[in-house]
Amino acid sequence: MRYRQFPGLKLLIVLALSVAIDSSMAETGKKPDVNAVARGEGLYRSYCIRCHGVKGAGEKPISPYIRDPGYYEAPALDRSMHAWHHTDEDLLKIILQGSPRTKRMPAMKGVITRKQAIDLVAYIKGFWGKRELDCQGPKHMSCM
Ligand code: HEC
Repeated sequence: MRYRQFPGLKLLIVLALSVAIDSSMAETGKKPDVNAVARGEGLYRSYCIRCHGVKGAGEKPISPYIRDPGYYEAPALDRSMHAWHHTDEDLLKIILQGSPRTKRMPAMKGVITRKQAIDLVAYIKGFWGKRELDCQGPKHMSCM
């Protein structure tokens, strides 16, 4: 079979693949895939741990006397703060595009691939318990 004869086929395959990737991203309430978590851990150690801390515990409070005005601390990504109020897609966007509020949260686009960012989201979700997984995203309002 030649792709040239079926111009729609290539698109269909691309669409099917992107659905397959994104379905692993949905807020299913399930624990994240163990392989994705393992891949995410290595990336987290390389790129995130220095600010977000071991197991996403967050940055230790920094003395207000040495802090620049507008300095943002890296929040905890575990269940103690509100990372789980974001959907997977939102988390992915923050990781790839950075924070619109502060350059301290760097845009990782161009440094890591989208697939690697998905693995990072899986690793972060590995910090959460059942409640956070069940209540992730806009649903969190009804779980408070
Ligand atoms: C140089 C420090 C620094 C590094 C490195 C860093 N971050 Fe951040 N991150 C921040 C800061 C500061 C914020 C808060 C941004 C804000 O308040 O707008 C943040 C916010 C976030 C948030 C949003 C959390 C929430 O509850 O809204 C996520 C998710 C996140 N970072 C993930 C990551 C990941 C994954 C990596 C590694 C790829 C990473 N960060 C690397 C400093 C950092």
